[in-house]
Amino acid sequence: MRVLGIETSCDETGVALYDTSRSGGSGLLADALYSQIAMHADYGGVVPELASRDHTRRLLPLIEQVLSDAGLTRLDIDGIAYTAGPGLVGALMVGASTAHGMARALGVPVLGVHHMEGHLLAPMLEDDAPAFPFVALLVSGGHTQLVEVKGLGDYALLGESVDDAAGEAFDKAAKMLGLAYPGGPQVARLAEQGDPKRFRFPRPMTDRPGLDFSFSGLKTHTLTAIRQLETAGELDEQARADVARAFEEAVVDTLVIKCRRALDQTGLKRLVVAGGVSANQRLRERLALECEKRQAKAYYPRGRFCTDNGAMIAYVGAQRLAAGEQDNDGVMQATPRWP
Ligand code: KG4
Ligand code: ZN
Repeated sequence: MRVLGIETSCDETGVALYDTSRSGGSGLLADALYSQIAMHADYGGVVPELASRDHTRRLLPLIEQVLSDAGLTRLDIDGIAYTAGPGLVGALMVGASTAHGMARALGVPVLGVHHMEGHLLAPMLEDDAPAFPFVALLVSGGHTQLVEVKGLGDYALLGESVDDAAGEAFDKAAKMLGLAYPGGPQVARLAEQGDPKRFRFPRPMTDRPGLDFSFSGLKTHTLTAIRQLETAGELDEQARADVARAFEEAVVDTLVIKCRRALDQTGLKRLVVAGGVSANQRLRERLALECEKRQAKAYYPRGRFCTDNGAMIAYVGAQRLAAGEQDNDGVMQATPRWP
C-alpha cells in the first residue's frame, strides 16, 4: 500500500510517501518539507492565520513534488493519512480537507492520525529502528511525556508535564535572552559558550518520586536571574551564555533523571527520544552516558525527522490504513486538543 502523508498542524508543511510493502526506512519513497519559520520569526511566534494561509499555498505543490521525486502519479496512491491533531485548528483543516478531497477524488481510504504518535514512531524510519517494547520520551514544543510503548497503538502514559512543555520552556527562555524564535536551537548554541558552574538552576519535581515534569518554575527562575544581572549592570554576552547554560543543564538534567526512573520502573532497555527537543546535543550526550551505565540503548529519529515532518505521518498512517482503519463515514477530523 502506497500512502501519502500530510502534516500541517503548526508551522511546517510536510508531505511524504510511504510504501508498506517495504520495511522501516526503505518504505519511505519521498518526503518534502516547507518550513514557515522565517515567516513567523518577525512576530516572535507562530501566527495561526498566517500559518493556515501558507499551508494552503504550499501543500499541493509539495504533493506534486513528492510524487515526481518517487516517479509516481496521483493514481499510484492507495491511501492518504493526515495529521488530525493536536495543533492549530485552521492549519489542521488545510491538511484534513486536502486529504479528504483527494481521497474522495481518487476513491482511496483516508485516515486522520495523532501528531504525537507520528513523533513517537519516527525512529521506525531509521535503519537501526527499535523493537517493541520501549520507553519513549516525547519532547516537543507542545508536549513533554514519558510513554511505555508495547506495540502500534498500545501506549501507556507514564508521566507528563503538569504545565509548560520542555520545548516551550526553551522558547520562552530564548525570548527572555533576546534570541529569535524558535528558541531551542539558539539557546543551545549560546549555552555552548556558557560556564556550567556559574549558576545552578532548580531541577523541578526531581526530589520526589514520580515521572511527571514541571517547567514553569524554571522559567520564573530564569527571568529572575536575568533581571538581577540586569539590575547589577552585569548582563553582558558571557552572562547571557552562562544563564543559557544553567537553563539547558537544568532542563536536560530533569529529563535525564526521569528517563532513568522510567527505565528502572519498567525494566526496559530501549529508550526512544523524539520531538523537536530530541535534537538537543547536550540531552543526547547525557542520555548516552545513562544508557551505557544500564546496558540500555537510546534511539533517535534522523535530524530532520526530530521536528515536524510528513514522513512520520505517512509512516503511522500507512501502518493503520494497512490494518484496515479509516475515518468513519468519510468525516474529516481536525482536533486542536487531543489527549
Ligand atoms: O516537535 P516540534 O518540531 O514541534 C512541535 O510539535 O512542538 O518541536 C519544536 C520545539 C520548539 O520548542 C524548539 O525550540 C525545540 O523543539 N527545539 C529544541 C532544539 N531544536 C528544536 N530545543 C532544544 N534544543 C534544540 N536543539
Ligand atoms: Zn511536533
